[in-house]
Amino acid sequence: MHASSTLKAAQTAAALRDQGSDIIDLTVGEPDFDTPAFIKEFAVEGLAKGLTKYTASAGTRQFQEAVASFYKHRFGAAIETGQVAASCGGKQALFNAACSILNPGDELLIPRPYWVTFPEIGEFCGTRNVFIDTNQTDFVLNASQVSDSITDKTKLLIVNSPNNPTGRVIPAAEMIKIVEVCAERGVYVLTDECYLFFAYPPAEPFSLAVLSPELRQYVCVAGSFSKTYAMTGWRIGYTIANEEWTKLMVRLQSHSATHPTSFVQYACARALEDADDSIAAVNEMLEEYDRRRKYLIPALNTISGFHCAEPEGAFYAFVDVKGLIGEKFGSSADVAEAMLNKAFIAVTDGAAFGAEGFLRFSYATSMQNLRTAIERLGEMFGTSEAQTA
Ligand SMILES: Cc1ncc(COP(=O)(O)O)c(C=O)c1O
Repeated sequence: MHASSTLKAAQTAAALRDQGSDIIDLTVGEPDFDTPAFIKEFAVEGLAKGLTKYTASAGTRQFQEAVASFYKHRFGAAIETGQVAASCGGKQALFNAACSILNPGDELLIPRPYWVTFPEIGEFCGTRNVFIDTNQTDFVLNASQVSDSITDKTKLLIVNSPNNPTGRVIPAAEMIKIVEVCAERGVYVLTDECYLFFAYPPAEPFSLAVLSPELRQYVCVAGSFSKTYAMTGWRIGYTIANEEWTKLMVRLQSHSATHPTSFVQYACARALEDADDSIAAVNEMLEEYDRRRKYLIPALNTISGFHCAEPEGAFYAFVDVKGLIGEKFGSSADVAEAMLNKAFIAVTDGAAFGAEGFLRFSYATSMQNLRTAIERLGEMFGTSEAQTA
């Protein structure tokens, strides 16, 4: 396996900053907001109640019930408690889901560009990674692309919408078609919904948890509190899947992390029980991300050689810099390196996501940082009339 390239880029930026460089770090997708106060208070309350011991590997019943009722309240989904398991973040949810059903020799379908961890999961499980290129469809996966990629060895498809790194959102109707195509051929679908609530209107949050029980048999939802509630360091997420798949995941987790921290499970369960407060907290962050998005994308499109489509979700601008590649720069990695050394701006090279020629800018940072970054980029590359995205 390879070290996470997004974390590596962030570490390089941090090292330069420690040496005194005035670095603007737009690498890591980590909310710059603090965890909402009411969630912190619930964690303190959990500690005061003495919730400092082991829980069941699937998480506490309170946590499982809170997730199930939240999905009912917010999406009208009918989920049984035994279909929910707590995990240490979205990453562990994804690993549990994939590793509990994949065998060496199976084929794993991964739309490209992909989030850096997906191919590594395949490497770890000894599966054959089969990439589905989405550059012909504006980075939006569709059911016929999936259908064309399925063979009798295909076991699992991983989807991620809203998407990291592209910011694209797969329309709900297409998502359902994708699951139908997979279910017909006995292929499972792992849906990484870690940016579920960060969809900018008119795009809307859509979870595959709402499917009929027949279709949902083939689906595992990987959810996370990290981005949704600005809780990256708390390490908590969950899966929603059929009872059989859930049992396999819990068995696997019982030999690794065992379960996420007991009082963190309590805090998250209490937060979800106060569904309206939680939704309001998320919407406040969404509004701020939207404000930044509305500033950043047109501004990036004024930088010579940059071209960026409007993200519909998540908090990344995925910038096409192929126009700059030629005499001066050999690759998008060279562009990123020059930006770091000359303009002190750290971004992630698209090659990390299987998309050479692109750079990913995270706008989970202050408006001030974004404005300064744009000024420095203008000085470095020059500006032109805003191009339409
Ligand atoms: C697409 C995607 N999935 C999952 C995760 C994992 O989040 P966590 O493990 O912090 O819940 C991330 C984090 O960057 C992500 O971008």
